[in-house]
Amino acid sequence: MFPRARQRIIMDHKVFDESWLPPSLLVRRREAEELISLLLERIESGVGLANPILIYGARGAVGIGKTTLAKYVAMKTAEEARKRGFNVKAVATNLFSSPSIHQILSMIVKGVGLNIAVHGNPVLDTLKAITDNLARNNSYLIVVLDEFQSMILSPKVQPSDIYTLIRYYEAVPLVDGIPRIGFIIVVSDQVSVFHMREKLPQIESQIAHRVGLDRYKPSEIYTILEQRAELGLREGSWGPPQLEMIAEATGAPKFSGSARLAIKALYNAAILAEHRGYGEITLEDVREALSRVSDLGIGIKDLQSLHLHELILLQALTVAARRGDEWVKAGDLRKLYEEVASMYDVKPLGYTQFYEHIRFLARSTPIVDMRMSGKGHKGRTTFYRLSPFIPPTHFSELLETIILEKLSRDPKRGASLY
Ligand SMILES: Nc1ncnc2c1ncn2[C@@H]1O[C@H](COP(=O)(O)OP(=O)(O)OP(=O)(O)O)[C@@H](O)[C@H]1O
Ligand SMILES: [Mg+2]
Repeated sequence: MFPRARQRIIMDHKVFDESWLPPSLLVRRREAEELISLLLERIESGVGLANPILIYGARGAVGIGKTTLAKYVAMKTAEEARKRGFNVKAVATNLFSSPSIHQILSMIVKGVGLNIAVHGNPVLDTLKAITDNLARNNSYLIVVLDEFQSMILSPKVQPSDIYTLIRYYEAVPLVDGIPRIGFIIVVSDQVSVFHMREKLPQIESQIAHRVGLDRYKPSEIYTILEQRAELGLREGSWGPPQLEMIAEATGAPKFSGSARLAIKALYNAAILAEHRGYGEITLEDVREALSRVSDLGIGIKDLQSLHLHELILLQALTVAARRGDEWVKAGDLRKLYEEVASMYDVKPLGYTQFYEHIRFLARSTPIVDMRMSGKGHKGRTTFYRLSPFIPPTHFSELLETIILEKLSRDPKRGASLY
């Protein structure tokens, strides 16, 4: 056989990069436009950008465009404002690991092009230098604070410092009285909003506009995939059936309607097809790609976003799976959960909350399967199991790490959540 010249399928790899920002948001367009005009209006009217914008997602959902919406709004506002003669810049930071006020201040200082040291300087002094600089240059800055819940929950960050930062317009005297820094705060879900209300009530109550994002529906994922395919793949190498298959699979509630997962699947299918060398993505490639990404579908971050008791419940299910008990009766799972909780020295939840959590895991995550009793069982019994796509031993080790991390971060937190 002569080697066949491979037909390229992927024309632009960066289109499939996590950090790539689409030129237009075809889905979430309404939300984006609303926020952009809100910010533009405040800049143009001279009111300034005092009150933050808040974006949060549906519980348990990831990859639903929170980060994308925030960055897109920041970037487009700056772009549009510049066209109208205003000097506006946009910066973004992810606070997920080791959040700190200094990290944010360093980014802002860099964003406005100031040459001052942030470390070792009092927060107020740095803020004063920043706001003075913005006023002098008659410019504005939009700051995206992504994964802000890490900051709220971090024992290392003082709420008073967060106040000083976000309410800078009260903390430092503004030369011309115009607040020129606008924050777009992104948190994972409504539980985080609740934490914010508890720990930072005077910030939560100042929010100018809040946007709650739901999971993507298959039709929305389709639109997102089509945009990527048009911009990143060779014409004729893909068609609606391929995109539909991915959109339906990843848009199912079990896969949390994650655009991230869908884009990854399309990219992987394109890579597989390119390797085969036929110049076209087949449905077989799509199936193969989907089965590969579904394993990756549950990342450490997803697990970290679960509640302590949900993690303990999962640990109980891995115990059953390792013992070889595939499906576990709800009552037996309850007993296992109590045993595992006591191993971690955690007080088990009452029955109602226990059932709420197991139902949440079964309905809203791909980790747990649920079925009702069939013949041979009296009454209606519910059975649960760890998804067969998950290798229990490895998963159990991962859970252990995350549980211990949660417990050590703040020993009281697990209990105070309820
Ligand atoms: N409306 C959209 N249009 C185009 N692409 C999108 C859209 N929403 C999400 N994406 C893409 O899907 C991927 C995941 O999106 P994003 O990171 O914004 O989700 P997220 O909700 O912030 O996820 P996480 O919960 O993990 O923080 C990214 O590659 C992003 O570009
Ligand atoms: Mg995000």
